[in-house]
Amino acid sequence: MQLQHLLDTTTLSATEIDELLLDASAFISPGGSIASPSPTLRGVTIVLAFFEPSTRTRLSFETAAQRLGASILHFTPDGSSVNKGESLRETFRTIEAMDVQGIVLRHGQDGVHRELASWTRMRVINAGEGRTSHPTQALLDAATLRERTSTLKGLRVAIVGDVAHSRVARSNVDVLRKCGASVALCAPAELLPKEAWVADLPVYASIDEAMSSADVVCMLRIQRERMDASLTLHMDSYRNSFALTEDRAHRFPNVIVMHPGPVNVGVELDEAVLDLPQTIIHRQVAHGVAVRMAVLNRYLRSPIA
Ligand code: CP
Repeated sequence: MQLQHLLDTTTLSATEIDELLLDASAFISPGGSIASPSPTLRGVTIVLAFFEPSTRTRLSFETAAQRLGASILHFTPDGSSVNKGESLRETFRTIEAMDVQGIVLRHGQDGVHRELASWTRMRVINAGEGRTSHPTQALLDAATLRERTSTLKGLRVAIVGDVAHSRVARSNVDVLRKCGASVALCAPAELLPKEAWVADLPVYASIDEAMSSADVVCMLRIQRERMDASLTLHMDSYRNSFALTEDRAHRFPNVIVMHPGPVNVGVELDEAVLDLPQTIIHRQVAHGVAVRMAVLNRYLRSPIA
């Protein structure tokens, strides 16, 4: 399978997702650490272009590229000629002219990745797009769950929190269902999307209901940076009905706890939950490296001619 650009998971078949997850599992050693592969991307240059903040995605792509032997360039708008008025298109053409083969791109505006992929010779890897998609996050979530449960077939997953502003939720629904899991949502009405992609998903009215029914809860942060200023949330009421408190986690010890990060401790999740045996949040980070190694390998081994 040779793939061109990773723009969204919706363009990946269940078989392609399975192959990427199998590739990623080969980068995890039997002890659970990240394996040292051969440098399959030696001679390849990749730019990490992040127009929004990131810790996990940016660093895991960086270490993934390093482990595969690629050369890495960093682009951030602060300190770049974007601040002198250079357009996005001309910025990308400038990067491309430096003989860069791949661009790992995070951007807050929907459509930027697709527009770039329509003309560039670089392979475009989506590292987060607006509220729409975060494909490698969904792949790493599936990879982490497979480590814990062996298969996703028949698994009941509840996505809890600010679904409306989450690019992770949308990509996760797509990947988890293609892997055979069933997905439900759990959020207050004002944090549920009104769009078609949620129309056939069951909705739990509270996290207690979700944890009584689901095998896995994927907790989401309240994404204030993407919220309409007019939206007011009553945080006491939110915590009462939707936060994963230590007490709740202890009442449902068999429910696996995930979170894409960053976690707002004390808001959607209590700090003590991070260290419980049912919580796999830091395994998600480790699988993030393995999945991004698998993605870079698949998409960049043969650059576009
Ligand atoms: N999950 C995620 O995308 O985290 P970062 O914003 O830290 O990359």
